[in-house]
Amino acid sequence: MGESSKQKAAGGAIPPGFIWGVSTSAYQVEGAVAEDGRGPSIWDRRCRMKGGVGDGSTGDVACDHYHRWPEDVALMTGLGIDAYRFSVSWPRVLPRGRGRVNEAGLDFYDRLIDRLLETGITPWLTLYHWDLPQALDDLGGWTNRDCAGWYADYAALVARRFGDRVRHFVTFNEFSVFTLFGYAIDWAAPGVTDRSAHLKAIHHVNLAHGLGVDVLRSLVPGASVGAIHNRQIVLPENGAEDNREAALLLDEHWNRAFPDPQILGCYPPRLAEAVEPHVRAGDMARICRPVDWFGLNHYGPIFARVDPSQVWGYGWGNAPEGSPDHGVGWPVFPDAFRDELLLISKRYRLPVYITENGCGGDRDRPDADGRVHDPHRLRYLEIYHKAMLEALAGGADIRGYFVWSLLDNFEWGAGYGQRFGLVHVDFETQKRTPKTSYGWYRDLIAAAR
Ligand code: FCB
Repeated sequence: MGESSKQKAAGGAIPPGFIWGVSTSAYQVEGAVAEDGRGPSIWDRRCRMKGGVGDGSTGDVACDHYHRWPEDVALMTGLGIDAYRFSVSWPRVLPRGRGRVNEAGLDFYDRLIDRLLETGITPWLTLYHWDLPQALDDLGGWTNRDCAGWYADYAALVARRFGDRVRHFVTFNEFSVFTLFGYAIDWAAPGVTDRSAHLKAIHHVNLAHGLGVDVLRSLVPGASVGAIHNRQIVLPENGAEDNREAALLLDEHWNRAFPDPQILGCYPPRLAEAVEPHVRAGDMARICRPVDWFGLNHYGPIFARVDPSQVWGYGWGNAPEGSPDHGVGWPVFPDAFRDELLLISKRYRLPVYITENGCGGDRDRPDADGRVHDPHRLRYLEIYHKAMLEALAGGADIRGYFVWSLLDNFEWGAGYGQRFGLVHVDFETQKRTPKTSYGWYRDLIAAAR
């Protein structure tokens, strides 16, 4: 990069109207899993399975956001963010996934949305962040083609109820994580490990996305609709020749299985062949519906290696020895973030919102004065922010950035051991303490304006 673009990247490259935000998801923060008529989700079930969650914890209480949301909105106001991305819990509004509507569940989101709007924060609503109603999983979940229709009905309920106030909708969060980890590698609910189940889930979730886009467009005039993809360069572990094919297959499942059909209208080559038995005439047209933007969640690159014990013959490899690490075993590699932003801008030709980026770890603890210092997170956010500026200077059309996450929360299979929040949560007392990174992000936003 030349000197002038370096200077541009160092300042002034944030376009006008850029959106600064934070993201959370329902199961990770809400708690109140058996309150006011909410039904069980596949994550409630997984938390109760032996070995389902590493530390044996559950989302039963999580951050108790269901009750403490006014305090949490005040924390957002303190940050000065433009937008808050949260998800609706499908089983909270439709306890059995379809049929009877739970008004009390809808009321909760009404209150939250109204307060956000009063304080000048734009709600970004994610329809699906992994908490499928258990009653639907009992019918096969995403392996059942009908699940796409159940999802479309749920999307219609949400659109009708909140579409007068919410304009920004996300159909799904991180398609490939919940399909791969839920149906091929047993790291997420529902914990199936089967090639055919994985392929069906991929295709049916793609169909659900397409139907969801149409539903949102027809019910919410002027809606801004997108989907969120986790994309990370996949590298062969140790650069070894043997791991190369593993990396190519994982790349298709991880990076291309969803944005390619949804935006380019085709599956990548290896997957196209494998998924073919589940595709019906007209499906690609149902899946490939116009969206307004591309949501990118990115943390760091991933490594693949041959692993015959896994259903697809590949497994998760290790980063090279001595690689800088988040604190959760994820490599820190901001150049990969910059390159990914440039790559998706070229490949998919949509405005990009970075809908998740952040740093985990288990190091954040209050000091003797009750303050929580998180220099590792601050450093991570700084260098990833710089990488984003470089991508902007390189021509990527980036319109917004959301930190994961506002609060320390229930980190799926890792339970409460990994903290990603700008705000520390004491899970015994539910006390919230803004960390050093909270102040850094607040100042960054203020300066960018
Ligand atoms: C992403 C998830 C989010 C959170 C972060 C750390 O993959 O979308 O819910 O777990 O990772």
